[in-house]
Amino acid sequence: MVHPHISVLLQEWLEALQNKHILTYVDCTLGAGGHAEAVLHKHPEITKFIGIDQDQHALQIAKKRLEPWKSRVQLIHSNFSELESILKESADAILIDLGVSSMQLDEKERGFSFQQEGPLDMRMDQTAELTAEEVINTFSEEELGEIFRDYGEEKRWRRAAAAVVHHRGKHPIKTTKDLVDALKPAFPSYFKKGISPYTLVFQGLRIYVNRELDVLETVLPHAIERLNPGGILGIISFHSLEDRIVKNRFREAAANRFPLDAPVDLAQPRDPIVRLVTRKPLTAGEEELKLNPRSRSAKMRIVEKL
Ligand SMILES: C[S@@+](CC[C@H](N)C(=O)[O-])C[C@H]1O[C@@H](n2cnc3c(N)ncnc32)[C@H](O)[C@@H]1O
Repeated sequence: MVHPHISVLLQEWLEALQNKHILTYVDCTLGAGGHAEAVLHKHPEITKFIGIDQDQHALQIAKKRLEPWKSRVQLIHSNFSELESILKESADAILIDLGVSSMQLDEKERGFSFQQEGPLDMRMDQTAELTAEEVINTFSEEELGEIFRDYGEEKRWRRAAAAVVHHRGKHPIKTTKDLVDALKPAFPSYFKKGISPYTLVFQGLRIYVNRELDVLETVLPHAIERLNPGGILGIISFHSLEDRIVKNRFREAAANRFPLDAPVDLAQPRDPIVRLVTRKPLTAGEEELKLNPRSRSAKMRIVEKL
């Protein structure tokens, strides 16, 4: 069966797991189950495989793909920020492959892409309440500007927010195309390095709707805490905002500054609790870049529990 999503940095992750004896494995972002399938093939010793995704459609696809291992696989529809309550025992390996899948991007009804017209939705979890449409039509100009600036890193955030507010005064913005039309006056001729100006605004909106940075901050200490000694945690990120969080939290855990979320005066110096397996993030090699352009921005960082 051909799967619509090509797993990124798969070989690098398999190599990191190579000499590990894994009994409990957690995939926090199961998606199409590509990493999951490869790991289950390579590690027949796995007795418990927990696969989490907040997208019910992804879980259905992964369920079929992981059928051969169904007695050992447990699928959970949840946000990985709930890891602490989902995972009762400790694990030998945990993977978090962030962001959206190709299935989500390609399905125009999900509203993630400015290249196809669809409802302005952008929820990875179809049961969540807040949609991009609500944000775009009800948030103040100032709030929209902050979203485009802080999560999109869009330099023209002020203009973009003003253009949205101006446009919605005349017509409600209901589809991805409506949003592109609203933004056009803010970016008259602005196509830098082949990146469309809408990319960053759409990125900012998606990160806000799905609280992507908050949930990452929440899961990291729990994922580290739940690892067995010698267990490893890999995180694949797709933009600098995510990678910065991962880099900083991993460095803190590898130094003597834990617990990660304690107020400064309570954070007693402790022994390092992880070893950095990757000092610099792993990125896709030439072969992978040729096969999958989406791997261009992927960065993987790995730590091992001490
Ligand atoms: C890049 S895809 C994963 C692809 C997968 N590793 C594979 O090889 O097929 C990311 C998946 O993670 C899910 N996801 C993203 N953030 C999540 C979160 N906070 N909690 C649960 N699932 C999340 C998305 O719905 C999407 O299906």
